[in-house]
Amino acid sequence: MKHLLGISDLSATQIAALLERTRHHAQALKHGDWDPARLKGKIILHLFFEDSTRTLTSFEVAAKRLGAQVVNWNPHTSSLSKGESFIDTIDTLGAMGADALVIRHSEYGAPITVAQRVKCPVINGGDSWREHPTQALLDAHTMIEAKGGLENLTVTIIGDIAHSRVAASNMILLTKMGAHVRVIAPATLLPEKLPAPDIAKFTSLAEGLPGSDIVMTIRLQKERMDRGLIPSPEAYFAQYGLTSAVLDQYAPKALVMDPGPLVRGMQMEDDVAEDPRRSLILKQVANGIPTRMAVLDMLLTPQA
Ligand code: NCD
Repeated sequence: MKHLLGISDLSATQIAALLERTRHHAQALKHGDWDPARLKGKIILHLFFEDSTRTLTSFEVAAKRLGAQVVNWNPHTSSLSKGESFIDTIDTLGAMGADALVIRHSEYGAPITVAQRVKCPVINGGDSWREHPTQALLDAHTMIEAKGGLENLTVTIIGDIAHSRVAASNMILLTKMGAHVRVIAPATLLPEKLPAPDIAKFTSLAEGLPGSDIVMTIRLQKERMDRGLIPSPEAYFAQYGLTSAVLDQYAPKALVMDPGPLVRGMQMEDDVAEDPRRSLILKQVANGIPTRMAVLDMLLTPQA
């Protein structure tokens, strides 16, 4: 594995190896005995062309835990504003000899283009609605921690299936690893073709929730909608918002996940997000660190 551009490029064996490595780093963090010099002397360049709270910070913390140094390049203060093209920017930054590059971009496939032009490993931190591989890996690690494994787990993803890279990478990873995947969304946000096979589609919580082990909500990706695809936020929440009452009725044992950002009052009510018996949301955030440590470790150090 030279780059991590998408879950679609990985075999089930490669995904299992990344998850095993994540488990190793999670244990090491828990016991305080990780190797803080594993990536000593390495420089990792972060190219985030789109806003980020969790992913950017999490990559930085993971790199620093392993002793790497991070350079956070800022598109807003770069020569892009002087008319330099994306490709020239990438060639310029590529010539600086960083040991790895983490990119987030609003263009579909941008990390693939970058990987073709630079010599070092490229990690996709999210591109348009295509893929967000490290999010799917950290979500899988969180599910394994909570439920013991992915095989035969029923995972239901609710929300903007049409525009979400998190939903896409999760659908691909979970089906490859033997989980049963369902999606629930208004018909306007539910594409005919999904990025993975054998996914059950529903348009109501009453039909799609029963039997779910994990319920994952996804924000409405308004920045990627060219028109209003829901009648109103209130109408969306009334039909698709998770409440304690809805979960008690249809999936009382389900655990709840959301990749963030959580838009209060849209994906779920506050009581669900903050319910320690149900919500895995902050565990997902915490698990971003060992997941990204594992990815950096796998790509930057020769594996035994
Ligand atoms: C998401 C993203 O940017 O892809 N968040 C994340 O990385 N955890 C999801 C979103 O923006 O809805």
